[in-house]
Amino acid sequence: MKTPTVQLLGVTKRIGGKTLIDKLSFEVPKGEIFGFLGPNGAGKTTTIRMMVGLMSMTEGDVLIEGKSIKREYEQAIRHVGAIVENPEFYKYLSGYRNLVHYARMVPGVTRKRILEVVRLVGLENRIHDKVKRYSLGMRQRLGVAQALLHKPSLLILDEPTNGLDPAGIRELRDYLRRLAQEGNISIIVSSHLLAEMELMCDRIGIIQNGKLVDVRSIQDFVREGEASRYIFEVDDSAKAKEALACAREAEITSEGIEVSAEREEVAEIAAALVRVGVRLYGIRRVTKSLEDKFLEMTGSDQIA
Ligand SMILES: Nc1ncnc2c1ncn2[C@@H]1O[C@H](COP(=O)(O)OP(=O)(O)OP(=O)(O)O)[C@@H](O)[C@H]1O
Ligand SMILES: [Mg+2]
Repeated sequence: MKTPTVQLLGVTKRIGGKTLIDKLSFEVPKGEIFGFLGPNGAGKTTTIRMMVGLMSMTEGDVLIEGKSIKREYEQAIRHVGAIVENPEFYKYLSGYRNLVHYARMVPGVTRKRILEVVRLVGLENRIHDKVKRYSLGMRQRLGVAQALLHKPSLLILDEPTNGLDPAGIRELRDYLRRLAQEGNISIIVSSHLLAEMELMCDRIGIIQNGKLVDVRSIQDFVREGEASRYIFEVDDSAKAKEALACAREAEITSEGIEVSAEREEVAEIAAALVRVGVRLYGIRRVTKSLEDKFLEMTGSDQIA
């Protein structure tokens, strides 16, 4: 098996007796977009800061292309492009000048490469405007362009959709996808919004109070959502159950009968009930949405 682009090995951070990050372990293979999902204060930024060497770890290690960020910092960080919180730019310079300035600090970045990343993030038309005239979303794009200049194999973006409008989010999603596929780079994006992550990522890791509570692929999430449970409110639950008995399992509840079914089958079930003379007052889906599940996993809105 190929070495994963990045591996977290029991990453732990304690500050003043408080465990902020607790034995975090996961890895991201080549070409994957990994979503790092958790509510405010869960520890996403802290973890990312440790991954890129902006903060020391209390225990554990992070390997990037097999190199330890602790012991082989230079060799490890070379493979990383990152935006942690807000990228800083010279506001009185154009986006292009900012990239040129930055490129001077990075060996081997050509003018051609600068134009390439500008195109990649869709800033061609505005790249010669001063950054102070940029909108938040345009600054985000410039940040991504800067992070990509040295052709990293790992791109880490902390809350990249913050401040983007729906069209901006969609574009971000599209070019991250393209990057992951064509450039064969791995991408980690953090967010506190599940809905965004679902569309953008191949896999999602959920972090809560500094602990990784779940990691799974989007397909698993989706598959789980396929067969749902529905409640059919009827006048005669027993009769309804009997009518469906040979077709599927049904359970009598205080509200009616609860049936496991796929969305397409709901109409058929309703028709079957009506056919035997059961009165149908309502149909309600009871399976939890991903959003509900996420909130359940990560607790309430309370910040720990
Ligand atoms: N330097 C620090 N000293 C003490 N506590 C800290 C420090 N930095 C962060 N924390 C705490 O660590 C926890 C995780 O913070 P972090 O910024 O990593 O959360 P986050 O998941 O990025 O949240 P958000 O979605 O709000 O950005 C919080 O409880 C925060 O108060
Ligand atoms: Mg954060």
